Amino acid sequence: MGELVYLDHAATSWPKPPEVAAAMMEALLHSGANAGRGNHSLAVGAGRVLVRARALLADLFSVSNAQDIAFTHNTTMGLNMAIKGTLQPGDHVISTMTEHNSVRRPLEYLRRTIGVEVDYLQVDVNGQIDLLELQRTFRPNTRMVICNHSSNLLGSVLPVGTIGDMVKSHGAVFLVDAAQSAGSLHIDVGNMNIDLLAFPGHKGLLGPQGTGGLYISPHLDLEPLMHGGTGSQSENSDQPTVRPDRYEAGTQNAVGIAGLMAGVKAVRSLGTQQIHLQEWKLTQRLMEELSAIPGIRILGPGLGSQRSGIVAFVIEGQDSATVAHRLDREYNIAVRAGMHCTPLAHKAMDTLLSGAVRVSVGVSSTEEDVKRLLDAMIEMYGAAGTR
Ligand SMILES: Cc1ncc(COP(=O)(O)O)c(C=O)c1O
Repeated sequence: MGELVYLDHAATSWPKPPEVAAAMMEALLHSGANAGRGNHSLAVGAGRVLVRARALLADLFSVSNAQDIAFTHNTTMGLNMAIKGTLQPGDHVISTMTEHNSVRRPLEYLRRTIGVEVDYLQVDVNGQIDLLELQRTFRPNTRMVICNHSSNLLGSVLPVGTIGDMVKSHGAVFLVDAAQSAGSLHIDVGNMNIDLLAFPGHKGLLGPQGTGGLYISPHLDLEPLMHGGTGSQSENSDQPTVRPDRYEAGTQNAVGIAGLMAGVKAVRSLGTQQIHLQEWKLTQRLMEELSAIPGIRILGPGLGSQRSGIVAFVIEGQDSATVAHRLDREYNIAVRAGMHCTPLAHKAMDTLLSGAVRVSVGVSSTEEDVKRLLDAMIEMYGAAGTR
């Protein structure tokens, strides 16, 4: 069967660079105390890890004050903090049909519980929204616009800079879900007018699971989602006002964050542009050669267009779970199938019933990985002229 070929980087990147595991081991052994919860040197050492990691992330996203980044356990936590910390009864939100359930579920929860109004913008077959429709959808009570930078089903990339300009001109808050772009697409929160940026540590930033973050514009006073110990202003019964403590209740994942810091350093040494180019070339080859399979439909932007490292497809008459299962059992290739936590995107692409097979490449993916996948697919389902 050959070595494992991992093509599920959109779920979580793997393997991580060896420096990530080394940094976590180092943190566990030599700075494993509780950051911000003591003045002894081990606790100070743990605090230093958090400060340095925060500074690196700030630099990556062009955030001018690193204290405006709060660590989270994943993207979902950052999105919940941003959505539930901003919206009030009577607010209107604009989002898109390609959002992940980490956006849709909190929004639908607020719709049910406090009557927030939500519009999900339609997307075309390329996963793009109509910017004129966006313009028309604003209302006087539009408080927030939420979109992904890249769709986890289609790989499409939304023009967040242009959307950010529009959101700013309407005085609304702009939340970007960078789950599929942090580490592989350029993000500049100032230039793109992003007020809130939720990102994972465990995907394109190459850190371990249990890490992530939320950038919060200094102009926003987000209501904290969690209340609890911060090691600061302990006499105060309210959550401290100082950042990032206000948004970081409870013990932080210092060991994970040490790993995340090593991951971000690896990303920076290659450069996001180079990573994107490398991944894009692999997606183009995948698309080109997969399209020879009879009955295949590749979702999202066409060949030559911008996309993240995701290529999802359906094959007429084939159940996506069976395709992924066969790739795993017969060829030792890991991909994801079924519904990808984004039912409205499936609805827009007419794949609600079939689901889709999602192949996703990452920084460690190679031409050989892609070839193994393509050979397996052609062996299983044939190529034009070979049946
Ligand atoms: C677009 C998008 N948003 C949010 C999430 C949730 O990310 P996490 O698992 O880090 O909470 C994902 C996960 O795949 C995603 O693809």
